[in-house]
Amino acid sequence: MMGMPNFSSSLASVDGAVMLASRATIPATDEGLLRGDGVFEVIRIYEGHPFALDEHLARLERSASNLRLPVDVAAVRADAHRLLAHAGVGPDHELLRIVITRGGRRLLFTEPMHAQPDVIRLASITYSPTRVLDGVKSLSYGANMLASRLARERGFDEALLVTPHGRVLEAPTSSIFWVSDGSLFTPPLDEHILASITRAVVIDVTGAAERACTLDELLGADEAFLASTTREAQPVGVIDDRRFDAPGPVTRQVAQDVAARIRDRLAAAAR
Ligand SMILES: Cc1ncc(COP(=O)(O)O)c(C=O)c1O
Repeated sequence: MMGMPNFSSSLASVDGAVMLASRATIPATDEGLLRGDGVFEVIRIYEGHPFALDEHLARLERSASNLRLPVDVAAVRADAHRLLAHAGVGPDHELLRIVITRGGRRLLFTEPMHAQPDVIRLASITYSPTRVLDGVKSLSYGANMLASRLARERGFDEALLVTPHGRVLEAPTSSIFWVSDGSLFTPPLDEHILASITRAVVIDVTGAAERACTLDELLGADEAFLASTTREAQPVGVIDDRRFDAPGPVTRQVAQDVAARIRDRLAAAAR
């Protein structure tokens, strides 16, 4: 089943105190809960080592600043290292979630990875980004979660968010890339999409170009894939009633190259 994982032996850190995730609590009056007013990050943990922790903390700091939310990033970093040291390596500790609430709570969790299909089927869902939240990875993800749910109700795996004017944006928790005439493209950030860290890795590794794209243009592409912390590069097999040969040759190469870049950066960080 998709959705939030169960937290059987996952750990949490609440304002620096480590405990079982199932024991973690915050006051019910926290506006992070009542209004979705807060910011978050999800970081991949490879064999106990976080990938791109600095980029995630930098985005957390930008998100919080844009939301006018105070955050002590040095304390979050210390919490993260303490939590990961307690967690060690294991299937319940493959992701690190960081949540900063308006009530001033610093919550960190280790989580298992969600099961992902090898090839994903997307349904286009009409979506308008909330402009005032540009540059904020906010806790207000109800619309993204609903888009995924609507796609699953229609028999697909995930949503592809498309504006009312037909512009392709991203998926609810991942970026989209496509291949046209042998070249790789992704929508630009000024389409009000998230500055995805995996998207930046893919662009760096492949030289992919940023280009605005309509749904019709995307349906005419040769290949497509999603990119995110949890998926790395995930081939797209279907968008609405268009089928793609997946993984296509470019996607397969990109997935290998991105995985190699991640391995190299983890190895460099361990030296
Ligand atoms: C809306 C959205 N787009 C893209 C992504 C992928 O970002 P990243 O590569 O930093 O995981 C996410 C991650 O959750 C997201 O929420």
